[in-house]
Amino acid sequence: MKKIMLVFGTRPEAIKMCPLVNELRSRPEAKTVVCVTGQHREMLQQVLDVFGVTPDYNLDIMSPGQTLYDVTARVLMGMKDVLDKESPDVVLVHGDTTTAFAAGLACFYAGIPVGHVEAGLRTWDLAAPFPEEFNRQCVDIFCRWLFAPTAVSRDNLLREGKDAGRIFVTGNTDIDALKTTVRTDYTHPDLEWAEDSRLVVMTAHRRENWDSLESIFTGIRRVVDEFEDIKVIYPVHLNPIVKSAAEKVFGDCDRIKLTAPMDALDFHNFLARAYMILTDSGGIQEEAPSLGKPVLVLRDVTERPEGVAAGTLKVVGTDADNIYEQFKLLLTDEDEYFAMSQARNPYGDGFASKRITDILLTGGTDM
Ligand code: UD1
Ligand code: UDP
Repeated sequence: MKKIMLVFGTRPEAIKMCPLVNELRSRPEAKTVVCVTGQHREMLQQVLDVFGVTPDYNLDIMSPGQTLYDVTARVLMGMKDVLDKESPDVVLVHGDTTTAFAAGLACFYAGIPVGHVEAGLRTWDLAAPFPEEFNRQCVDIFCRWLFAPTAVSRDNLLREGKDAGRIFVTGNTDIDALKTTVRTDYTHPDLEWAEDSRLVVMTAHRRENWDSLESIFTGIRRVVDEFEDIKVIYPVHLNPIVKSAAEKVFGDCDRIKLTAPMDALDFHNFLARAYMILTDSGGIQEEAPSLGKPVLVLRDVTERPEGVAAGTLKVVGTDADNIYEQFKLLLTDEDEYFAMSQARNPYGDGFASKRITDILLTGGTDM
């Protein structure tokens, strides 16, 4: 029997790893061990509750205002003990967080083979997103299995000279998650509040955007002040830097509702009912195309060009004037809105977890 350990620590990793945990746990030929680092605390627990996953280990490393040094050192040292105790045959890490980088590094030091879920995303710019581009490039160097969500990410890996025999195109497990969360009969009091308006859902949290948050928010606020038929719901990331900027610019606007982070079931259903989305998130750029929701990406570059090619995503940067113009365009130009709101599914068919599991356990094939 193969012992497979999954390691993750933040909200987005959990949303994309829990479907895989549940798929692996349904297979008698695997012994599945879940180790969460606790890089996030409340936002991680929300996801574990929605997917019914109870971790075997929780390193519980989060501290308020943690630095990259804190997270890297605590995950690396915490993982050493867990790996010594469990000696897994395979460890799976996800994406581009510091949890993924430091847990992967611990496995590399211990000589344990690693599979990278969501491998091969690239901007080729180590400053954006920071430090995520560095994290994912590093992880891809030492992995035995590179589970690329799309052909674009596979090609990025091939371009770097990675061995084709290690690369498997599987689709993104985010689409697996979305299949289980979006419901036709979903209701929520905040949706009733927005019923008479065009609902805009927004999020922002990226480290490289911390200095630009006020600029981003100011561009958005100008549009909301001009268009009375708009209501915005913004579940604010628990990072105090993000929270204080959001409260400063939006706090006195009665058509912008700042809420606590939502659990994935709520949030995915809000996305499914939105008129449009404003975000710097990575995961939301994957979810929106399959829901047919236009997204203005509040960043200078994206590692998710598939959504741009599909026509659903537009990268608008962080400059207040540009955000104002592009947001207004989507509200006033029907052709623009129609072109961006066609449901497309460049990120997979909802069976990525099954493919990854088959590849690991029975030599299954990719897409
Ligand atoms: C991290 C990831 C980023 C990912 C994001 C998803 C890194 C370097 N960054 O960034 O790639 O896009 O998660 O959201 O790995 N906090 C809480 N409770 C929580 C979560 C966060 O209070 O449940 C607060 C804490 O004060 C914490 C701070 O947010 O110190 C920042 O968390 P951290 O994980 O360091 O950075 P993120 O910006 O969340
Ligand atoms: N999300 C959520 N609740 C929220 C905001 C986002 O469940 O209040 C989900 C979202 O649907 C996506 C993931 O969290 O699946 C994205 O996480 P985040 O934006 O924190 O990180 P990123 O994807 O940018 O790494």
